[in-house]
Amino acid sequence: MFPKGFLWGGAISGSQAEGGFDSGGKGLSMADLLPYGDRRFKSMLNGTDALKNYNSENFYYPSHTGINFYEHYETDIKLLANLGLKAFRFSITWSRIYPIGTESSPNKDGLKFYDRVIDCCLENNIEPLVTIDHFDTPVGLVKKYGAWRDRKMIGAYLNLCQTLFERYKNKVKYWITFNEMNMILNLPFVGGGLCYDKKDNLTQLKYQAAHYQLVASAAATKMAHQVNPKMQIGCMLAAGEVYPYSCNPKDILMALQKNREQYFFSDVQVRGYYPNYIKQYLVRNNISLNITLEDKKILKNTVDFVSLSYYSTHCVSSDKEVSKNKTKGNVFSSVENPYIKSSEWGWQIDPIGLRITLNNLYDRYQKPLFIVENGLGAIDVLDENERIHDDYRIDYLSKHIDAMSEAIDDGVELMGYCIWGCIDIVSASTGEMKKRYGLIYVDKDDEGNGSLNRIKKDSFYWYKKVIQKNGIN
Ligand code: BG6
Repeated sequence: MFPKGFLWGGAISGSQAEGGFDSGGKGLSMADLLPYGDRRFKSMLNGTDALKNYNSENFYYPSHTGINFYEHYETDIKLLANLGLKAFRFSITWSRIYPIGTESSPNKDGLKFYDRVIDCCLENNIEPLVTIDHFDTPVGLVKKYGAWRDRKMIGAYLNLCQTLFERYKNKVKYWITFNEMNMILNLPFVGGGLCYDKKDNLTQLKYQAAHYQLVASAAATKMAHQVNPKMQIGCMLAAGEVYPYSCNPKDILMALQKNREQYFFSDVQVRGYYPNYIKQYLVRNNISLNITLEDKKILKNTVDFVSLSYYSTHCVSSDKEVSKNKTKGNVFSSVENPYIKSSEWGWQIDPIGLRITLNNLYDRYQKPLFIVENGLGAIDVLDENERIHDDYRIDYLSKHIDAMSEAIDDGVELMGYCIWGCIDIVSASTGEMKKRYGLIYVDKDDEGNGSLNRIKKDSFYWYKKVIQKNGIN
């Protein structure tokens, strides 16, 4: 049973939706350097490659135009209101507010855009859920500080937070400090704006950058509570339980260790200190982090809720032969689980895994959970009447909603659920448009052509009913 006031929602991010990459005084963002095509993944790993090869005349950069939410936000939010959304998650594009990142005052035009987006949500009775940084470091800060490799990033980030919290203190209640902070371990440029070369000890660099983000997140939490104690601040994990491939104790141990890679981030943000297992991991790997006494004090400012994205579970095996059989398409290296099916992009589909993940997170923290991303990336085809019959998406979503309901019945406290890319947006990993998550179709292709018309899919009408009935049946 879903509780009264459950936040049925949808989610997007700035760089995947807005477009208008140089409008209204916006500066270049890290996401603007990720091209469509073969070079994209390499650029996502390492900003050195992204910066060196940036050439907007010869390559297509999907974030530059997105789905032009920048100009369509009003009609898009009305469509979402028609869908019945109770919450809409979007992110602030940092370089719209601080184009380089080091300015002493914010860019007024950038703020005006978010004023309108937020007001539009409120006028339509939609609760805004704002991600402060969704894979979106300004290029100015990448060039000046090397992004999150430098402690100075904490100040730059808090400057942004101060501007946002003061301006929207009576309008926005729910905030997420960083999108999927644990992603920095897999995609250092995406997660932390990191550029590096052979001289760098990459593991050291990633954990140091992660530490600065953890301190920034805790300091932002403190600041938000000072500005308005009613504001609710969440951390966010790219979640999904790691299963042992077999009951071989070696597999169980591997899974335990792999799960800690994600739990490290939420453990610190929920409990307020580094757990012993990570301290030992750092020692064993000769990693010595710059952690001050003041940092330790700041980390004590813990979050109000734990948000998560959930697409899949993962599997690990100590058997070399078994380990060769990896899933396709997912940035998390994972052994293919033979018991579950995969999406067209090779992401494994595991609704029961959502129930398991929610239970484990809740057992660990006893904090309210919020699923802020879940959905199916699939190819949608228009029929002769320009309709999209996406029963595969309805099937995926309804099974995950059932799993959520079961988790609630297990005792998990769940605040809400946002369908990822509720309106079609650019895929973060591939830069494609054809990998669609939306309940609303956007007419645009992978090369950037199309009318940008919006069309309601069958899943739109289905989700509308789900919301109306508060998830019953
Ligand atoms: C999450 C990100 O990891 O996965 C989103 O927070 C992203 O930005 C989503 O879009 C789905 O991934 P993709 O690559 O299919 O867009």
